[in-house]
Amino acid sequence: MRLLPLALAVAALGSIPAAAHAQAAPLGDATAGAEVFSRCAGCHEIGAGAENRIGPHLNMLFGRPAAGLDGFPYSRSLRRAGVNGLVWHADTLSAFLENPRAVASGTRMSFPGMPDAQQRADLIAYLRRFSADPANIPEADPTARASDHSVDPAILAIRGDPEYGAYLSAECTTCHQIDGGDEGIPSIVFWPEADFVTALHAYRDGVREHPVMQMIASRLSNEEIAALAAYFANPER
Ligand code: HEC
Ligand code: HEC
Repeated sequence: MRLLPLALAVAALGSIPAAAHAQAAPLGDATAGAEVFSRCAGCHEIGAGAENRIGPHLNMLFGRPAAGLDGFPYSRSLRRAGVNGLVWHADTLSAFLENPRAVASGTRMSFPGMPDAQQRADLIAYLRRFSADPANIPEADPTARASDHSVDPAILAIRGDPEYGAYLSAECTTCHQIDGGDEGIPSIVFWPEADFVTALHAYRDGVREHPVMQMIASRLSNEEIAALAAYFANPER
């Protein structure tokens, strides 16, 4: 197959109307996709605490412009695609994974491409789990309040150790900006500690439905949640 010239490919992808993304490319089976992801894992991390490795981390990928992470040394080609309007959605990811060079001719991602459409759909369903549904994230508008869910007063009474919280916070700040900046992910700094503890328990108990936060919260003990609440309540101390 002849590769599309970069400008053409980007123009084609960029011209997909934004509204079409919502229904585009039916998602596959995320469980099968987790297996397919083993082909990516040598270069990419995803999930809690994921960091840039050979490739950029893949959290919060959906809705992100191509080459959109600060601090990752992207190829000029992928950066240009991003500047030209390439945004990652199911359809654009499918095109990129099918043949990375068709989308960004000079990409540094040395991956030959995945011709099998079912594998791509499964993989994309898996990747989708680590992105928020933008509709569920009001900008800068905390979705949790203490009234969401009542937490045992004994748990709320635990005094958290802010230094331990600072240590644990590295897992959180891959997604949540410490300066409170809000690129579609809610700010979690300067919250009253009780609200913070309540929100995390709500994820842990399944009262708040967000798979990534549920997974993260389920691994935290009551003491760890209290420590994180104490740290994020005043991270500049
Ligand atoms: C050999 C290492 C390697 C493998 C294997 C690999 N990637 Fe990549 N990936 C990279 C690199 C390096 C980049 C940055 C490309 C650039 O700057 O042109 C990248 C970029 C990406 C991007 C663009 C991210 C952004 O922030 O714009 C996505 C999406 C992606 N890879 C998904 C995948 C998936 C899914 C797989 C598995 C099918 C995979 N990659 C396999 C190295 C790899
Ligand atoms: C992979 C990205 C990611 C990581 C890592 C992450 N979060 Fe989140 N967090 C989110 C998203 C997305 C939301 C919004 C979820 C929703 O809509 O319910 C969220 C929501 C929250 C909320 C509720 C915010 C609100 O406005 O209601 C709190 C509190 C929170 N996270 C704390 C943490 C803590 C503490 C950690 C580290 C232990 C952490 N998060 C790690 C992505 C992440």
